[in-house]
Amino acid sequence: MTRNSSPDIDTVRTVFGHAARAPSLHNSQPWRWRWDGTTAALYLDAERLLPATDMFNREGVLGAGVMLNHAEVAWGAAGWQTRVSSFPDPTVRGHLASLQPVCPHVPTEPERLLGQAIEQRYSDRMPMDEPSGWQATRQILEFLASRSGTTTTFLDPTALGALHQISAMTTGFRRYDPKYQAELSWWTAGPDAGRAGVPASVLPTTPDRSHIPLGREFPSGTAGPAGEGDDEAMVVVLSTPGDSATDLLDCGRALSAVLLECTVQGLSTCTVSHIVEIPSARARVAELVGQRFPQVLVRIGSARAEPPPRTPRRGLDSFLEIGIADDTIGTTQQDR
Ligand SMILES: Cc1cc2nc3c(=O)[nH]c(=O)nc-3n(C[C@H](O)[C@H](O)[C@H](O)COP(=O)(O)O)c2cc1C
Repeated sequence: MTRNSSPDIDTVRTVFGHAARAPSLHNSQPWRWRWDGTTAALYLDAERLLPATDMFNREGVLGAGVMLNHAEVAWGAAGWQTRVSSFPDPTVRGHLASLQPVCPHVPTEPERLLGQAIEQRYSDRMPMDEPSGWQATRQILEFLASRSGTTTTFLDPTALGALHQISAMTTGFRRYDPKYQAELSWWTAGPDAGRAGVPASVLPTTPDRSHIPLGREFPSGTAGPAGEGDDEAMVVVLSTPGDSATDLLDCGRALSAVLLECTVQGLSTCTVSHIVEIPSARARVAELVGQRFPQVLVRIGSARAEPPPRTPRRGLDSFLEIGIADDTIGTTQQDR
């Protein structure tokens, strides 16, 4: 730590290394950070968006919001409070947020536990058992999401039939969408595998998939086995008051908070978004939950299967730029 109470470079690198465990659509990691000595600027990485899957870049911004909250949590676990400002410079396209670590302190127990959850969390695509202690958890999740202006709608397994139908319809449409399928192949077995994407080792086998009616149709994988019995996971739909970039960033922060709190409570989670990617399907989800702007869903339960191997992440230096004073460096013409 330096005298002016800014963290040193080693701390910055360690913290952003942890934060990079943040989940993102197809593990695309669509973010870049630039550290100027006191403040970190978060940018959307336009080259890591998925236009066929995520046609309005909603999930790209949402994923960056997840990363933002992961960074806040990682700084907290390292003993730093953070000051965050969203869209601090509206003239720079893609500059989503600024984060300044302030007030070094000894991390509290909740900060420490949340920091550990970053490393423990993973997407569990297997059938799950009903979550234990659900009533209390549900209220905490509702509170956490509401702090970022995000509404939670909880659906129990008996109310899921309609959602399963929408999921099946989406899957059917996507089978006839070559650009979507090409993106899926690229992110599951493409040249970026090893530092991004979704490896076969975390994806269910074809027989296991039949027990998970609310899942994206990925290529068959090698994870599992899932064991017998249907999925008993609860489903929460996160919705926002609008569809602006601010709403999406906030929803990403809420999603991160939900996933990490569940992890602290020993619960398994899986983010589900295929069902809100096609506008007609999203409209049906909106009708079902009585919210105009559903953004993303999460399955929450008690793990039935062993955790799969950890998904890879790209190296720190590919998304973190350090020690640059010139305000223009780190933004491409496209960003401006
Ligand atoms: C915005 C967003 C959308 C996602 N959509 C899906 C999805 O539809 N189906 C799925 O199985 N996983 C989904 N995921 C999870 C990612 O695939 C996962 O986070 C990524 O592969 C990294 O793996 P990990 O979560 O195990 O670290 C999504 C994650 C985010 C943040």
